[in-house]
Order: sequence, then structure tokens, then C-alpha cells
Amino acid sequence: MSVLIKGGTIVTSTGRYIADVYADGHKIKTIGKDLDYPADDIVDASGKYVLPGAIDPHTHISMPFMGTSAQDDYETGTIAAACGGVTTVVDFDLQQKGESLLEAIERKQSWAAGKVAVDYSLHPAVMDPRPEVIAEVKKAVLDYGTPSFKIFMVYDFRVDDATMIKLLEETKKYGGLVQVHAENVYIIQHMNELLEAQGKLSPYYHAVSRPNIAEEEAVARAAKMVELTGSRIYIVHLSSKEGLAKVKEARDNGIDVFAETCPQYLLLDEERYNEPDFGGAKYVMSPPLRTKESNEALWGGLNSGDLQVVATDHCPFDFKGKKDMFGKDDYKKIPNGAPGIETLLMLLHSEGVVKGRISLERMVDVLSTGTARMFGLKDKGEVAVGKDADLVIFDPDQKFSITQSKLHMNIDYTPFEGLEISGMPMAVYSRGKRVAEWNGDQMTFVGQVGRGKFIKREPFEGF
Ligand code: URP
Ligand code: ZN
Ligand code: ZN
Repeated sequence: MSVLIKGGTIVTSTGRYIADVYADGHKIKTIGKDLDYPADDIVDASGKYVLPGAIDPHTHISMPFMGTSAQDDYETGTIAAACGGVTTVVDFDLQQKGESLLEAIERKQSWAAGKVAVDYSLHPAVMDPRPEVIAEVKKAVLDYGTPSFKIFMVYDFRVDDATMIKLLEETKKYGGLVQVHAENVYIIQHMNELLEAQGKLSPYYHAVSRPNIAEEEAVARAAKMVELTGSRIYIVHLSSKEGLAKVKEARDNGIDVFAETCPQYLLLDEERYNEPDFGGAKYVMSPPLRTKESNEALWGGLNSGDLQVVATDHCPFDFKGKKDMFGKDDYKKIPNGAPGIETLLMLLHSEGVVKGRISLERMVDVLSTGTARMFGLKDKGEVAVGKDADLVIFDPDQKFSITQSKLHMNIDYTPFEGLEISGMPMAVYSRGKRVAEWNGDQMTFVGQVGRGKFIKREPFEGF
């Protein structure tokens, strides 16, 4: 399978230029002017961008959680990814009690086998931190190609600070990266008790129960563990101005704290919890949506480099049947999470680039190039010779009105319903094969389920 993309504007993390791209046998083979190779797929991309496929390093595919399971499986989730211009997914792999980390990796690989439509990798999540599990870090990094490890400071399956320290020490030896969900569980438990006593249990109080200070404290504490160990950490789904200030403080002191944010924390705010008819439940996620002030601060963090990645935290639960099944009378029982894998690129372009909040090049960095570097995806993240031909031909002028019925995620709502988008993918390629294309008024999947493969990643090399 060969592809020749003619006359597009190739966008990198540092600039843009007009050239042709020729890909054959999964790889980008040549970039130059007036290339004249025969190819199976020849596309005129004049007036369009040629972007590296986006990488989503934060998804919860089929994750059992809060009495139910996140609804996208590897097939529906990666079809939606392809339709959104996401060509690599790095999914969380939650270790079960009694399971080893390596067994957890093999278990989730077996769920993905034959189902993935784009490439994927896994971050093992340490939930049963026996000494022999911590000792598996070496094999996970060096043999299994999974050098990033998730821990939670909240939820029933959280780890304590001692475990965090041990994991930071162990990952430091082999080029691993610890990823942390940073919220202070005791602040949240205290707020839950206060709100329960006052009968304040509607979705709005989910946000009240998890104040910015809970994130601020946990980020600061995690950063201190990094200072102590000389290791490194990556804060997932950073949501607040206060949390960002702690990331920045650590970084200014030379401590290796990295962080991602997500479109929902850049674009939505706590007013959403007031939507009528239990509508606020659609936004029950942790951490919760914050204020417009935090939205603005996070855009600033992307521009300053204090935030290096934008991911989705894709974790879909139907509004009808899941969000309302357990939590109609108590926000604490509403499954936490929201969909997003398919809307990542369109939102960052339309709300970020078009509105002048970030440059096109910075968008490429936080969605692709920087993400690949952070997570050791050495063949991904750039339109460059030798890299995988994971490409998006993107029309910056194509309009799209976001609506659930035209998206592919396995869920009955999108938090961005009705948002008018400027700029959509025209064609998406995964290792040189067209997997999705614009089809009049929406994206269509044209790839092959099962063609995606597990990508072994490289140890962390600094950022
Ligand atoms: O609410 C969320 N974010 N659900 C998914 C699990 C997590 O904490 O990332
Ligand atoms: Zn989380
Ligand atoms: Zn998550």
C-alpha cells in the first residue's frame, strides 16, 4: 500500500512548509517537492494541512469502574479514535487484586487482539502494590515496552505515599515514568460527609466535594516525592489553576514534574453542573470541571510549556442507563467519566488554534510530537522520513456541528453537543492505510478492524 499526498502544508512542532509526502510499507519514505511516484492512493492536499496523527495517552477502554464498565471496547474506541484523527491510543491497564503487572498487560492485550483499528499501547496501573509487583517494573519497561505506570491518590484502589515513593525509586532505575491522578482523598471524604449531612447530593455537589485545593495539595505532595527521590512524575488530567501553579513551582525548581490537561478542563466550566433534568451528571468526572479562570490558566500552561500534553481521559458512560442508574439521588454514585477520544483534535484546532489560544505548531506538539517523546513512541508523532505514516490530511475550513449521532463513540451523549467546529480531518492514515475519511457531513471509518497493533515503547529519555 503506497500513498502520495501532494502539495499539503506539512505542520511540525516547530514550523510548517508545503511539500509532497510519499509513504510505502507503513513508513514515510520521502518528503519533497513535485514527487512523481506511482501510488495506490494519490491525494491533492493543496490548501490542507498534513499533520501527524494525534496520540491519546489517556483512555479507559472497557474499564470496570464504580459498579459498571466504561462502554467503549477496543473496537468501538479505536474506530472513534480513527474518525477523530487519533492514530495511537495508550490505554490504562488496571491491575486486579492478586494479579501481576505483567499478567495485567497480557490480559488487556488479549482484549485488544483482533479488535484494534489503530495502534495502541498500555500503561499498567499499580493497584495491588506487593513488593514483587514493584519488582516487575524492570520487565515491564525493558521487555514489555510499557515504561509508564499509573497510580491513583484517590478512589478505593488508591496507593499510599509509601508506595508512590517506592515506585518512583524503581522507575527511576529503568527509565520508567509514574503517572498520577492527583487529588487529596481526605479532603474529598471530609467534603462528602459535610455535603451528605446537609442533603446536598445533586450532581453540582460533585464539584463542591472536590475543590481545587484537593488537586493543589496532591500535586504539591507528589512533587515533593519526586524531589525526595530525584525521579520524575506525570500528572494526568490537570484541571485547576492552583494545581498548575504547583506544577510550575516544582518545574521552576528543577524538579521533573510533567503534566497533561484535557479539552474538558480547557473549554468547560462548573456551570455545566447546573444543567436541568440531571444533565449535570454528564460532566461528573474526576477531577471536576472548574472555573473559567482555570480554563484560561491551563491554556497559559500549554503555551508556557508547563503542560506538555493534551489527552482526553476518555471514559464513557451513557447518560441514560449508566449515569442515572446508581446516582440519581447521590452524586457519589454517578460513574465518573466522560467521552472524548473522537473530539480531541477538532476541539484543539477549532477552540485553540482558530481562536488564537495556541499556535498550530504547539497543537501538533501537545497532541503528537511531545506526546510521542513523553511516552517513548519513537516511530510516532511527526511527519518525517522514517516515521510511521500516521497522517491526517486536515481541512482547516471544513465546518462541523458536533452532535452525538455523527460521532462513533459508544455512548449516548457528548459534552460538546452543538459546538460549531472549524477544521476537520479529510483523511486519516494509520501506517499508510486510510482508516477514516470525511464523507459529506461527517467522518466515516474505512479502515480494517484488527489491523492496529501493540506498540512496544522505549524507556523515558528526558523531556
Ligand atoms: O472521572 C474520571 N476521570 N474517570 C476516569 C478515571 C480517572 O480518574 O481517570
Ligand atoms: Zn483519573
Ligand atoms: Zn482517567
